[in-house]
Amino acid sequence: MKITFLGHATLWIEFGQFSLLVDPFISGNPKVSDTIAIKELKPNYILLTHAHQDHTLDVEEIAKNSKAVIISNYEIAMYYEKLGFKSHPMNHGGSYTFDFGRLKYVQAIHSSSFADGTYGGQPGGFLIEAKDKNLYVAGDTALTTDMKLIPMQLTLDLAILPIGDNFTMGISDAIIASDFIECNKILGYHYDTFGYIEIDHKMAKQAFNDAGKTLYLLAIGESMMI
Ligand code: NI
Ligand code: MN
Repeated sequence: MKITFLGHATLWIEFGQFSLLVDPFISGNPKVSDTIAIKELKPNYILLTHAHQDHTLDVEEIAKNSKAVIISNYEIAMYYEKLGFKSHPMNHGGSYTFDFGRLKYVQAIHSSSFADGTYGGQPGGFLIEAKDKNLYVAGDTALTTDMKLIPMQLTLDLAILPIGDNFTMGISDAIIASDFIECNKILGYHYDTFGYIEIDHKMAKQAFNDAGKTLYLLAIGESMMI
């Protein structure tokens, strides 16, 4: 399974013949140069953790070009259905076996509204089981004891956690989250994009290291394999 960081909270996950795009926010990201051509992104599915603009800005354009199915909570799925896109609605605690693997929509503590104020349901994260790999994409979330439920269900190969603080967990809470989910391999996201969420990379990696964990920080466009 190949995971490519496309900036902020945008992920491209590829395995076999499948590609999943998570939370596309590319055209509005001040850290992204024009090297990522949105038109060339043709995922099979677009996974949305919540409705905030820094997670959904490029959904319509990419869905139009790719005919990707949008997977999210019920309210977000219906929002895009009304605009003529194909969607698959889920809600917290629900799993579904797709052609690419199994997906579960799990709790996140955050908020979720579209840029125009439309209600975006309750925010969530995803557990992805595909190609013998188990991945947790936390979405924007605070540290929550609900994370302790995850290792009762899955042994994670990698967890993708927000680490930028201010709007989500910061480094020290993400380290506790890593204990809760019993996964020591963490890919950090949701940092540096805006002034409020700038982090010191070296200190962040050191803090994870001191806790016996590994924090991966990818450059925009960089990939890792699990
Ligand atoms: Ni958000
Ligand atoms: Mn966000």
